[in-house]
Amino acid sequence: MSPPSILGNGKDSSESAAEETYADIDWEDLGFNIVSTDYMFVMKCAKGDKFSQGSILPYANIEISPSAGILNYGQGIFEGLKAYRTEDGRILLFRPHENAERMKIGADRLCMPSPSIDQFVNAVKQTVLANKRWVPPPGKGSLYIRPLLMGTGSLLGVGPAPEYTFLIYCSPVGSYKKGAVNFKVEDKLFRAIPGTGGTGGIKSVTNYAPVYTAITEAKANGFSDVLFLDSASGKYIEEGSACNVFVVKGNVISTPATDGAILPGITRKSIIEVAIDLGYQVMECPISVEEMLCADEMFCTGTAMVVSSVTSVTYKETR
Ligand SMILES: Cc1ncc(COP(=O)(O)O)c(C=O)c1O
Repeated sequence: MSPPSILGNGKDSSESAAEETYADIDWEDLGFNIVSTDYMFVMKCAKGDKFSQGSILPYANIEISPSAGILNYGQGIFEGLKAYRTEDGRILLFRPHENAERMKIGADRLCMPSPSIDQFVNAVKQTVLANKRWVPPPGKGSLYIRPLLMGTGSLLGVGPAPEYTFLIYCSPVGSYKKGAVNFKVEDKLFRAIPGTGGTGGIKSVTNYAPVYTAITEAKANGFSDVLFLDSASGKYIEEGSACNVFVVKGNVISTPATDGAILPGITRKSIIEVAIDLGYQVMECPISVEEMLCADEMFCTGTAMVVSSVTSVTYKETR
């Protein structure tokens, strides 16, 4: 399969809304599962260098040294964003520059070179256009785009890898949540250490598996997700396993401040802007469990979750 040609204006040479064809899958039945698409984007760079030229390749397994930095020492970050198809046949990306900026901050924190903002956004566009037939029809879902940045060079001692790979793959997705959002407040296991000394504020690959036991236990007890507390005092809510949270009381919408421990979500940022425009008072501040339990309403935000109202929150015995 030869990769499609991509022109600099972001349109591929054969693009026209009328010619658009769809991949042969059941678009009515999309969940949040990986569906392999046709192409991925790959760009490599040596430690100390800058990323320069990447390419669209057929989607396939990648070869990686057993002694790669990502496999041994977790030197990696990822991003997540979506492309949507409009009724008039266009394909829209949701604020990709924001993901590019966030990846850069995460890369600096983990001692990795990162693609420039333009390289990131262009690579995302190329990946989406190459996989255009996997962008669901309007209203049926979206194309979830997963940029990865990882130390793929081989090394034995602890330290930054000698080579880095920026890779983007994608998958058509439907809804992430299956049914109502019922949070269990996790009061034993913490996701992040306080302040900017940790990695809670970046999408490090190492942030996720350490809380799998909490998520698995909560799910086994009928909850849909866990809500993490700050690890310094255990009194203030932080975020869900892959979403930010907001509480509503009258005309005031509050969300925990992103102080280094909480991921600065792009949906979160967008909702804050929209809420202010709509005349709400928005506060980014510490929110205690007690304040949350007295809220009128609660909702969570994220690329996968979109904006979802929270049905229940359970803290110890209080629901
Ligand atoms: C831990 C965590 N918090 C919040 C979010 C929401 O961020 P965004 O709105 O940028 O998807 C995500 C998902 O990316 C996440 O993994």
